[in-house]
Amino acid sequence: MTSQTQETSVPTVTLNNGVQIPQLGFGVFQVPPEETQSIVEDALEAGYRHIDTAAAYRNEAGVGAAIAASGIPREEIFITTKLRNGEQGNATEAFDNSAHALGVDYVDLYLIHWPVPSQGLFVQAWKQLERLYANGQVRAIGVSNFLADHLDTLLAASNVVPAVNQIEIHPTFQQQELSAKSRSLGIMVEAYSPLGQGADLEAATVKSIAGRHGTSPAQIVLGWHLAQGTIVIPKSADSTRMRENLGAVRLTLTPAEVADITALESGARAGTDPALAAHSQM
Ligand SMILES: NC(=O)c1ccc[n+]([C@@H]2O[C@H](COP(=O)([O-])OP(=O)(O)OC[C@H]3O[C@@H](n4cnc5c(N)ncnc54)[C@H](OP(=O)(O)O)[C@@H]3O)[C@@H](O)[C@H]2O)c1
Repeated sequence: MTSQTQETSVPTVTLNNGVQIPQLGFGVFQVPPEETQSIVEDALEAGYRHIDTAAAYRNEAGVGAAIAASGIPREEIFITTKLRNGEQGNATEAFDNSAHALGVDYVDLYLIHWPVPSQGLFVQAWKQLERLYANGQVRAIGVSNFLADHLDTLLAASNVVPAVNQIEIHPTFQQQELSAKSRSLGIMVEAYSPLGQGADLEAATVKSIAGRHGTSPAQIVLGWHLAQGTIVIPKSADSTRMRENLGAVRLTLTPAEVADITALESGARAGTDPALAAHSQM
């Protein structure tokens, strides 16, 4: 398996604390718990070395079982998991439960999954993540779905700047202002739903560029993210499509092709608006 990783050559991005993260990872949102071990084993076999899960996905145990079964050394796999909304007041215990389910004694990246501003707990949660980081239980800490005002509130009360902000980004919904703000603060941007949950693959512009390169639309969209330095975590339950997605690292788009895809912005969010996400949601 090690040789497959070398063949795949996924570039890494350096986070603000020096930790390296593979720029293309594998997301497991909506992967059923009972299928997770086998699907993540396929992903590791394909060459993925970065897995993105969450307590709310209820499949951390399957991710952990796949990693254990793979025989790949723990330190060669980058694991992200996330704090459930209802556990922001109790992040230390929630983290222990996630690490136990994953079967690991440290996590590479731990994120606050949603700010849930109505709950008023994300700063308190961050203080607990800062302690997990200081204790060496996590190599990096970050946030997800944080809008500009949530970042401002967090930074005003924090010692550690988040390493990443994981937000919805794809050609038809790019959040350019929020990405620029995150980057200006030293926070790396991770794109979730990078394929627009599959919908953006139907865009005529994407299909036409794919035809020109002799690749799939998914590789074009992922290549567009990679060209901008964004970390991407596409999900596929299908071993052929997961390999296809990984192949995006071999693609180079021209600046004009990048600009044509950027012009697809439509402002249409596929997921939930973070300002409205509720405590019960995740
Ligand atoms: N932080 C958050 O709040 C948050 C929210 C949403 C997602 N995420 C993370 O981001 C990851 C990815 O997001 P996502 O799952 O919402 O959406 P996505 O990766 O944009 O799209 C996944 C969809 O695209 C299809 N697909 C994947 N590769 C394809 C290909 N090569 N050709 C055609 N169709 C393809 C998949 O179907 P098949 O499986 O059948 O291939 C699935 O229906 C998640 O798994 C999760 O880790 C985080």
